[in-house]
Amino acid sequence: MIDTKKFKRRIVVTGGAGFIGSNLLLYLVPKYADYLFVNVDCLTYAGNLANLKPIENAPNYIFEKINICDLPLMQECIARYNVNGMIHLAAESHVDRSISGPGEFIKTNIIGTFTLLELARQKTEVTGDFRFHHVSTDEVYGSLGEKGSFTESSPYRPNSPYAASKAASDHLVRTFHKTYGLDVVTSNCSNNYGPYQFPEKFIPLIIRNAKSSLPLPVYGDGKNIRDWLYAEDHCRALDLVFHKGVSGQTYNIGGRNEIENVELARKVCRMMDEMLGGGPRAKLITFVKDRPGHDRRYAIDASYIRKELGWEPQFTFEEGLHSTIQWYLDNNDWLENCATGHYLQYYERMYANK
Ligand code: NAD
Ligand code: TYD
Repeated sequence: MIDTKKFKRRIVVTGGAGFIGSNLLLYLVPKYADYLFVNVDCLTYAGNLANLKPIENAPNYIFEKINICDLPLMQECIARYNVNGMIHLAAESHVDRSISGPGEFIKTNIIGTFTLLELARQKTEVTGDFRFHHVSTDEVYGSLGEKGSFTESSPYRPNSPYAASKAASDHLVRTFHKTYGLDVVTSNCSNNYGPYQFPEKFIPLIIRNAKSSLPLPVYGDGKNIRDWLYAEDHCRALDLVFHKGVSGQTYNIGGRNEIENVELARKVCRMMDEMLGGGPRAKLITFVKDRPGHDRRYAIDASYIRKELGWEPQFTFEEGLHSTIQWYLDNNDWLENCATGHYLQYYERMYANK
């Protein structure tokens, strides 16, 4: 039995076994020894407890296998650990999956977030002490033209079921602040990359396929632009927003690393040629059918979080990409363990339909 009284703060991190959640817990658990971190994750295909090996025995870390939509279990968890803060990352997160099966996205991203907000509201009514940090995406803003970038006041124009489900959850969070006075902060971040990202997402997919001389699938004309941020820089921003963010405020987070997908694939290939010899791996690039509703360009204006909270990314794109590639090369077992079962079946089905 854990003595929760000895911890200054008791924080639930939802989705802590996923890509960003793992990076976040690996960053926060050693940094805040006087906080208790409860990782709530139901371990979907994207959740992997192996990510958390370095902290699994830390005295201020606990794992609870719970689905965030399960109100009684979540209620019990919040009571047991006397939780007074939540950093909410649990979500279905892959756009392509949201196109082939939106149902789970509606359940986890909307109903799940609503369930947590209801519990945060209950706890706030009793103790007056509960901060809810909602971790969201820039995809809620839709697609940009050639110029401009998303600010905190950009209109919401989601184009994929994933983006729509995240937009709905953002609105619920806002509503709970305005209507019930809940202490909330929301952050909307651009595309992340780094260690522990499931290899259905573009960068680890390219690395894995390039390593095995498999085709590198680039959707459409490859000129879609994403604005990439190294996960550790995102985690540093989340730490600041959770601790210093103004209640009810949203914060855009991005690294100003805009690049066309095909150029990014070429860059990864060039780096891997240098690191491993052989190649050129860029000849593996294969243009495939476009994603329906594929957003053309994302770019984040992060000047508000820079000015208000003093956040700056610490990694250049070159540094982040190099260490990411090195991590996947060094953790081949992790990569290949992901690439079994559900994942392979899913991709085989997808490419069979092309
Ligand atoms: P991920 O898919 O890697 O991980 C999601 C985690 O949530 C997994 O561990 C999964 O098991 C867990 N989960 C899913 N459904 C659950 C449920 N019903 N109950 C409990 N746990 C559940 O996702 P990620 O890339 O780490 O993204 C984390 C969060 O950050 C998401 O909310 C996402 O919208 C947001 N985000 C991601 C990016 C990105 O580039 N990856 C960018 C901006 C924002
Ligand atoms: P992804 O990593 O799925 O993130 P998101 O869709 O949330 O931005 O995709 C990043 C970009 O790469 C996006 O424009 C789609 C594109 N993409 C490909 O061209 N090929 C692929 O196999 C995948 C998975 C993505």
